[in-house]
Amino acid sequence: MNKPKAAITAIGGHVPDFRLTNKVLETMIDTTDEWITTRTGIKERRILKGEGQGLSVMIMAALDNMREKTGKRLDDVDAVIVSTVTPDMPVATTSAYIINKIGAKSAFGFDLQAACSGFLYGLATGATYIESGRFKKVLVIGGDKMSSIIDYTDRTTCVIFGDGCGAVLLEPSEEGHGVHDFILRSDGIGRPHLNIKAGGSMYPPTEQTVANREHFVYQEGQAVFKFAVTNMAEVAAEIMERNQLNADNVNWLVPHQANKRIIDATAKKMGVDDNKVMLNIQRYGNTTNGTLPLCLWDYESQLKKGDTLIFAAFGGGFTWGSLYLTWAYDPK
Ligand code: UT7
Repeated sequence: MNKPKAAITAIGGHVPDFRLTNKVLETMIDTTDEWITTRTGIKERRILKGEGQGLSVMIMAALDNMREKTGKRLDDVDAVIVSTVTPDMPVATTSAYIINKIGAKSAFGFDLQAACSGFLYGLATGATYIESGRFKKVLVIGGDKMSSIIDYTDRTTCVIFGDGCGAVLLEPSEEGHGVHDFILRSDGIGRPHLNIKAGGSMYPPTEQTVANREHFVYQEGQAVFKFAVTNMAEVAAEIMERNQLNADNVNWLVPHQANKRIIDATAKKMGVDDNKVMLNIQRYGNTTNGTLPLCLWDYESQLKKGDTLIFAAFGGGFTWGSLYLTWAYDPK
C-alpha cells in the first residue's frame, strides 16, 4: 500500500504591528538605508512590543488567523511542533502551552531548534508522522521573537532580524499532493560563525556574561554568507535533479529570507525566474523560523492545486536543507 502524502491544508500567519524602518535604524546606529537595502534587500522589520509578550502571543494570533480563514478546528490535532530559537521560556516547552490554549487534549508537542532551518526540519518531521499513518493532523509552527535576542547597538546584526510567525496544518492527502521529498543537512563547523555564546550549559548566565553582551546573537556575516550561498543553492538543485524537476515545471521557490543576494543566487542555480521566487524580506527582514511559513501566508492566494514548490533554508549550526511538495488546494 502507498504511504499517505502529507499535504498542507491550512495556513495562518501573524506579524506584529510595530514597523522598525531603515530610516529609524539610521537614528539608532551608524548605518544607512542605502547600505541595508543594497546588502540585504530589507526595508523594514516588525517588532513585538510589550512586557511579558513572548513567541506564544504571535503563535496564537497565527492560529486564530488560520481558524478564521478556514473554519478548521485545531482541538483535535495529534501533534504540535514549534520550530523556534526564541521559545517563551528555556524550559517548559512552548508547544505544550499552545496545546493547552487550543484545547488539543490528546496531542503531544515539542519545540524544535535548528536555527533558521527549523521550520523546514519541522515540516519534514511532521510530514513523516503523517506518512507513518499513525497521525492524521499535525500543526507545524515556525516563528521567532528575534528582537528578544538582538543587540540593538550591533549594526552587523540588528538591521537584519525581525519578529513574526506562521503555521501550517498537515493532513493526509487523498489526491497524492503534499511532501514528496526532502534533504536535511547539519554540520557543527558553523558554531563559531553564528551563535549565542552564553545562557546554555557551557556558559550559564552570570553578571559577566550579561556585561559582555554574550546573550545576544553573534554573527560573522561574510563567513555565514559564503556557506549559505553555496549550500542552499546546492540542496535546492539536488532535490530538483533527483526528482526529475526543471526550471519549467517548478512553480515556486520558497527560500529562507536571510539576504536577497542569497535568494537570488539560489534561484539562479536552479534556473528559476524571479517571478517564481517568494519574497517578503523587504517587509519583515529575517524572522528566522518564521520566514518560510510567512512566505506561504503572503503568497497563498497565488497558489494553485498541483503547483510544485521547492523550499530551501540555511541557518546557524550550520543547518540547511530543501523540500519538494505539490500544493493541495486552489485559492479560496
Ligand atoms: O539566517 C541565518 C543565516 N544568516 C545568513 O545567511 C546571513 C549571511 N550574511 C549576510 O547576509 C551578510 O554577510 C550581511 C548582510 C550580514 C553583511 O553583508 P556583507 O556584504 O557581508 O558585509 P560585511 O560584513 O562584509 O561588511 C562590509 C562593511 C564592513 O565595513 P568595512 O570593514 O568594509 O569598513 C562593515 O563594518 O560594511 C560594514 N557594515 C555596515 N555598514 C553600514 C556592517 N554592517 C553595517 C551596517 N551599516 N548595518
